[in-house]
Amino acid sequence: MKAFASAPAKMILFGEHSVVYGEPAIAGAVNKRAFVQIKRSFNDKSYLKSYDLNFEVELDTQNKSYILKKGKPGIIRYILEALSRVHDHSPIMMILSSQIPIGSGLGSSAAVTVATLAALYRYHNIRFTKKSLAHDAHMVEQAVQGVASPLDTLVSTYGGIVYLSRNKKFYPFKTKFNAPFVVGYTTKHGNTAKMVKGVRILKNRNPKLIDPVISAMGNLTNTAKYAISKGDYARIGELMNINHGFLDVLGVNTVELSRMVYTARECGAIGSKITGAGGGGSVIALCPGKTHEVSQGIAKQDNILPVKFTKKGVSSRVRW
Ligand code: PMV
Repeated sequence: MKAFASAPAKMILFGEHSVVYGEPAIAGAVNKRAFVQIKRSFNDKSYLKSYDLNFEVELDTQNKSYILKKGKPGIIRYILEALSRVHDHSPIMMILSSQIPIGSGLGSSAAVTVATLAALYRYHNIRFTKKSLAHDAHMVEQAVQGVASPLDTLVSTYGGIVYLSRNKKFYPFKTKFNAPFVVGYTTKHGNTAKMVKGVRILKNRNPKLIDPVISAMGNLTNTAKYAISKGDYARIGELMNINHGFLDVLGVNTVELSRMVYTARECGAIGSKITGAGGGGSVIALCPGKTHEVSQGIAKQDNILPVKFTKKGVSSRVRW
């Protein structure tokens, strides 16, 4: 028997950083996924292989450790944590493949965690719901990272675009919003905890200047919620540009991110901004009719990934 599961990446459209201070945020699942396959091992050892991420390890599922056979398994702590919570430690062969760049702020760890847990539940015939899965995946992320917002694992489990309100309630958008985006990412990874800490220090030193910016970011997200529900691309683009300016004020911009944001606009994007924590990682550009031009422009110096929002969350099955 083989168990299969996949889960999508996410992008934050509005509200990164201000969400840490209780302001609303908007994020959605995108059409790039992580795939996990689990079957019985051909011998008495457990293995994890990824052809596209180019690594191979022998797993010690009991002790949350591994022996490296090939490559650099950046994402493995999430998989070991999931295995330690669900697996009965019988020998398995796990295959991971991912269309999501690792460490780029697109929620690769959440997607891998959600897909790993779903595949394990299928493999062991354990019942689960989206609610229980999102919760369990959040617990895994928290155990590995220390702190983690539930946003990534929720979006990765349920799919679609969600609005997270000031009182931390989730509302899925009902309208279809499938405008084309280009993600630009640098190989320089952002460190979310470090960036969040940097913003806090800046805010504590300059409360009279930074507090109004953070509340303006919240108001901007609420304005964007209306624009998204109307499918008003021009307005959404304008609000993305303003949001990028605010993120720059918070000190999370870099030379590379700036370069990608402005290149995108020069190449015809109607809006572009940092997505996620910044300090490295990714930008998003809204570019209806200009995907090709924007992709070519950014790809001259950085990496690109064309994406769209998707309604498809986690998916899993078994094959006998
Ligand atoms: O690094 P990412 O893409 O997971 O984004 C982090 C978003 C922050 O608002 C900066 C932090 C958080 O936990 O919400």
